[in-house]
Amino acid sequence: MKILACIGSYRKKGNTARVVQMIGTRMQTLAAQHTTPLEFEMLFLSDMDIRPCRGCRACFDRGEDACPLKDDIPLIRAKMDAADGLLLASPVYVDDLSGLVKNWMDRLAYLCHRPAMGGKCAYPLATVGGGATGHTLRTMNAALLTWGYHLVGQTGLKMGALASADELPRYQPAADKAADKLFNTIAQQKAQNPAFVSLLAFKVQQLAWQREPPGSYDQAWWQAQGWLAPGCTFDFLPRSSRVKATLARLAGAAAAQVLT
Ligand SMILES: Cc1cc2nc3c(=O)[nH]c(=O)nc-3n(C[C@H](O)[C@H](O)[C@H](O)COP(=O)(O)O)c2cc1C
Repeated sequence: MKILACIGSYRKKGNTARVVQMIGTRMQTLAAQHTTPLEFEMLFLSDMDIRPCRGCRACFDRGEDACPLKDDIPLIRAKMDAADGLLLASPVYVDDLSGLVKNWMDRLAYLCHRPAMGGKCAYPLATVGGGATGHTLRTMNAALLTWGYHLVGQTGLKMGALASADELPRYQPAADKAADKLFNTIAQQKAQNPAFVSLLAFKVQQLAWQREPPGSYDQAWWQAQGWLAPGCTFDFLPRSSRVKATLARLAGAAAAQVLT
């Protein structure tokens, strides 16, 4: 099992990194108990060269390889492709994601059109001084869901400016819960049984690309995956119940009328 933890804080011993470390340690324990080999990589986005999106739309119109910015985004994308799960961790800055995470997210915006992360799990984590994490988690959830990830849960922690070593055990139960959820969902291949909301999001996207005039890069990509074929209900053959898939198809069709 491979987990990629993307951390959006410059502080390598800050609140966010410490909780990610706690989650990683707990996952290693679970992996040992289940004799499952685990690779848990902590990737600090601050160590990566990620230039701001210029909005040229080359990734949308001609594919991500056409992006004029030559930096570490393809390397990060390769790590995301290789991982079974993504732990996305951000401190709250002014009631939302840190700029590091938003910058990374903007550069991967093409995944909103071409959701290549189907079958993988994601877990968003936000740490905050004294305010709320809801807005930050919503931003993360919306992107991850649209990229195709199966959302396993979410955690928001109030930690002050910098939690002291004495205070850290207070966050252990939340870290354990996140680790258990991520580990078990991947180990039991539960992403193969997508949530209703994932099926619905897929249907909305599918209808949008089916209605596009032929010829766009995105549409050709969907076609190449076989996802525009009549009767295709998800980006891989889901283990969802027929009832859930049918309801999601109907709800998705109704939502697409409003949204597209
Ligand atoms: C630029 C900046 C903006 C922040 N904005 C908020 C905020 O809007 N609300 C809040 O409660 N805490 C805010 N904080 C506090 C951090 O969210 C909190 O301390 C977080 O756990 C820090 O994580 P880190 O140690 O991983 O960097 C802010 C901190 C910084 C540096």
